[in-house]
Amino acid sequence: MESEQAVRLQGGSKMPIIGFGTVNNSFNGEGLELAVETAIKLGYRHFDTAMIYGSEVALGRALNKAMDDKIVQREELFVTSKLWCNDHHDPVSAVRQTLRRLEIEYLDLYLIHYPAKFKPWASTVSPMEDDFDKLDMESTWAAMEKCVDMGLCKNIGVSNFSPNKIQNLLGHASIIPAVNQVEMHPFLKQKKLREFCGEHKIHVSAYTPLGGYGTIWGTKSVLDNSIIQSIALKHKATPAQVALGWGLSKGVSVIVKSFNEGRMKENMKALTLRLDEEDVAEIERFEEKRLLQATFIVNDTTSPYKSLQDVWEE
Ligand SMILES: NC(=O)c1ccc[n+]([C@@H]2O[C@H](COP(=O)([O-])OP(=O)(O)OC[C@H]3O[C@@H](n4cnc5c(N)ncnc54)[C@H](OP(=O)(O)O)[C@@H]3O)[C@@H](O)[C@H]2O)c1
Repeated sequence: MESEQAVRLQGGSKMPIIGFGTVNNSFNGEGLELAVETAIKLGYRHFDTAMIYGSEVALGRALNKAMDDKIVQREELFVTSKLWCNDHHDPVSAVRQTLRRLEIEYLDLYLIHYPAKFKPWASTVSPMEDDFDKLDMESTWAAMEKCVDMGLCKNIGVSNFSPNKIQNLLGHASIIPAVNQVEMHPFLKQKKLREFCGEHKIHVSAYTPLGGYGTIWGTKSVLDNSIIQSIALKHKATPAQVALGWGLSKGVSVIVKSFNEGRMKENMKALTLRLDEEDVAEIERFEEKRLLQATFIVNDTTSPYKSLQDVWEE
């Protein structure tokens, strides 16, 4: 069993640098519960969920079982969940519901999932124009800060935020976001964003670090890339370990999903892989391509984002 390495967030909490993703193509709570039980036995301590994934209940059941069986204590776990766009009007109630579903007392990290606000009833990933509400990040963030003051979460952060959007938030924040969770893999290196976050001591967490291999939103071009494969061969590693090792070498944490025991073990071993400078230089030359575009928050009338350029600002 690899022991999880951790990064210290600016609030002082330690966050293990490999997180266990809980989004599944064909969601099956039982499969997830079993996968989480296995993951805990293999040494995973950091779990990533969100209201919109529908995975909070099964994750909570597995975590509570492991705590009841004394395999792990609550303080050893790091649990992240996220505020969906239709809950910006009341993050305190939203996090309370998340905690009820997870059956735990507090979150280690609560993230604003996207910088977009829907009306309360629009609990969806395919909003209609009428479902959008006017985004007021100042009041959303103030309520996120209240969640910390109330002890409902230890840290707060953002996800899918561009540097400009964070800069605006910093203008009114009392608590600096601890984390920005974004898509990042060898084909989306997030160099500018990482530099910006580094300057503000905001930790970057990489989601879809394998390019979402085999998922409906992902691509096989990360793990099937011949350069990644030859780097893997050189280090007697696997392409997945190279992709994860590359992310870790950039100082980010990686949130990787596998419900398969062999691949969970394989992914954990990325912690011991050290890439050579020339490996990193070769990956540096890959062309960039974003997989999760967030087209669902773009429209001409009611969204603050009329184009993908408005969302990502790159
Ligand atoms: N904040 C956000 O907006 C956001 C967006 C997307 C994702 N996320 C988080 O990030 C997590 C991970 O992202 P993701 O699920 O999109 O992509 P990912 O972790 O890059 O890829 C997952 C896919 O790769 C397969 N896989 C895992 N390990 C492998 C290995 N060693 N070799 C070959 N295939 C492997 C998995 O299948 P098996 O299970 O069969 O192994 C699954 O199909 C999510 O679960 C979620 O928690 C956050």
